[in-house]
Amino acid sequence: MIRIALTKGRLEKKAIELFEAIGFDCSDLRNKGRRLILPINNQPYEVILAKAADVLTYIEHGVCDIGIVGKDTIMEYGGTFFEMIDLKFGSCQLSLANKVGEDFYAGYNIKRIASKYPNTAKEYFKQKGMDVQVIKIEGSVELAPLVNLSDGIVDIVETGITLKENGLEVIEVIAEVSARFIVNTISLKIHQKEIEELISKIENYLKIKEEVQ
Ligand code: PRP
Repeated sequence: MIRIALTKGRLEKKAIELFEAIGFDCSDLRNKGRRLILPINNQPYEVILAKAADVLTYIEHGVCDIGIVGKDTIMEYGGTFFEMIDLKFGSCQLSLANKVGEDFYAGYNIKRIASKYPNTAKEYFKQKGMDVQVIKIEGSVELAPLVNLSDGIVDIVETGITLKENGLEVIEVIAEVSARFIVNTISLKIHQKEIEELISKIENYLKIKEEVQ
């Protein structure tokens, strides 16, 4: 049995569409209720649903063989695993944003940055040689500058609607991110044939999809 850790929420639906396109029976995944481990009925695979950062933990500890997780999470937490495929869905821009019309770089004060991605934010400003104070926020990061907790935010922007509806705008794009197919280093040896077959099926599907578009 090969176990796949799938990031629940944002990437889940697109991953199920991908699995179905390559012939996986995802009826249990589509009708999961509150279950967290779901079989793929016509394949020797099962899927666990986890929060993004936990997907990396399950892969690193070797209890899952394959993971589907955003590049934003990989950038933030790192880890030892193979990043095999850019799945091209869940595309977002990891961006620096602040209030519309405000000059983020004005003044000499140390800027405060709110983010779900404190390591990535620190690294970004370190590269710029800029000293900043990073404040970790768990969700709805856009709130922080509105209540003057921070001067800016580092967060993922997909449609840009959340920023727009809260009077914020992107100042700089830090990275283009999308879902990645990652594999535990030992699993790749133990299940080499199966994983290589799966990778080849996914790559063929992505190629055909790209040609159609
Ligand atoms: C993400 C992100 C933004 C929003 C961006 O949050 O942190 O808040 O989506 O999407 P948009 O550009 O399409 O508006 P998520 O929905 O994952 O929830 P969270 O803020 O509670 O983490």
